[in-house]
Amino acid sequence: MMLEPKIRLLSRHDEYRECERLQEAVWGGLSVSSEVMVVTQKYGGVVLGAWLGKKMAGFIYAFLGRRGRMLIHWSHMMAVAPAYRDRGLGFKMKLAHRRLALDRGIRSIGWTFDPLQSRNAALNIRRLGARVEDYVVDCYGHFPSIIERGLPSDRFLVSWPIASAAVIKRLREGPPARQVLPPACINKTALNSCGLLENGPIHYTLTAPHLLLEIPLHTDIMREQNLALARGWRLKTRRIFQHYFSAGYRVKDFIPPGGTSNGRCFYVLERRG
Ligand SMILES: CC(C)(COP(=O)(O)OP(=O)(O)OC[C@H]1O[C@@H](n2cnc3c(N)ncnc32)[C@H](O)[C@@H]1OP(=O)(O)O)[C@@H](O)C(=O)NCCC(=O)NCCS
Repeated sequence: MMLEPKIRLLSRHDEYRECERLQEAVWGGLSVSSEVMVVTQKYGGVVLGAWLGKKMAGFIYAFLGRRGRMLIHWSHMMAVAPAYRDRGLGFKMKLAHRRLALDRGIRSIGWTFDPLQSRNAALNIRRLGARVEDYVVDCYGHFPSIIERGLPSDRFLVSWPIASAAVIKRLREGPPARQVLPPACINKTALNSCGLLENGPIHYTLTAPHLLLEIPLHTDIMREQNLALARGWRLKTRRIFQHYFSAGYRVKDFIPPGGTSNGRCFYVLERRG
């Protein structure tokens, strides 16, 4: 049984150092140093840690930013150490960040995530109710992260309107019960002889109100075993999202493995207007 995590702001220098070590363990390098974390914490941002006993199992780093006329928190990094994933820690840290931000009068938190990371999609879209606002090609240029080495760093840009009725409802009621999957599927897929998901025909002319787009369950494993296939997924899904976003579709939901999706996972796109 996992201990109940203690989630709070970092305050001591050894805690910032521990956060540096966690960044290195997760991404293979340091993105934000202790010095920058200390000043971020002092001047409007948030550096939150989640402790299990004495061990820092996860953290969030967010700085104060401005979007138009609105002050926001930009959550540049969040990580949970691999051994502690899939136990709701990421979700609990996001809730703690939301409470802190609301207390400071912040009403929106933004961040980016890789659309091919299905765990992140499940957490961000389905559990938290964050909204995908844009698709950014190769967002960070050459990105040294060990998670996606060899792939262009494409990202969804999301905003989480933390005081909105939609987010309050999503957090209070949880994700919608498993719905019937929309019949219109953008990509037809199959597992290859190594058990890796491959794309077959892709449809760019669909006009149904809701469309499904399947993505791999474990892009990290695919990237390690077959980089060319993972790059193919990156380029094909980039084209699909760009095409359907410019045709008026938006990401409506994410269907994780389990339940009706039978071990597969899908984005649901919805046509607007
Ligand atoms: C993203 C990250 C922080 C999530 O942390 P976490 O503690 O595992 O998150 P949670 O347990 O709260 O939520 C994960 C959800 O994904 C689901 N999930 C797990 N594996 C999945 C998969 N392969 N595909 C789809 N969903 C999956 C889990 O069931 C859970 O959903 P649920 O709560 O409805 O059951 C963590 O995976 C991580 O550190 N990743 C590497 C760094 C990173 O990508 N950071 C974010 C961008 S900066």
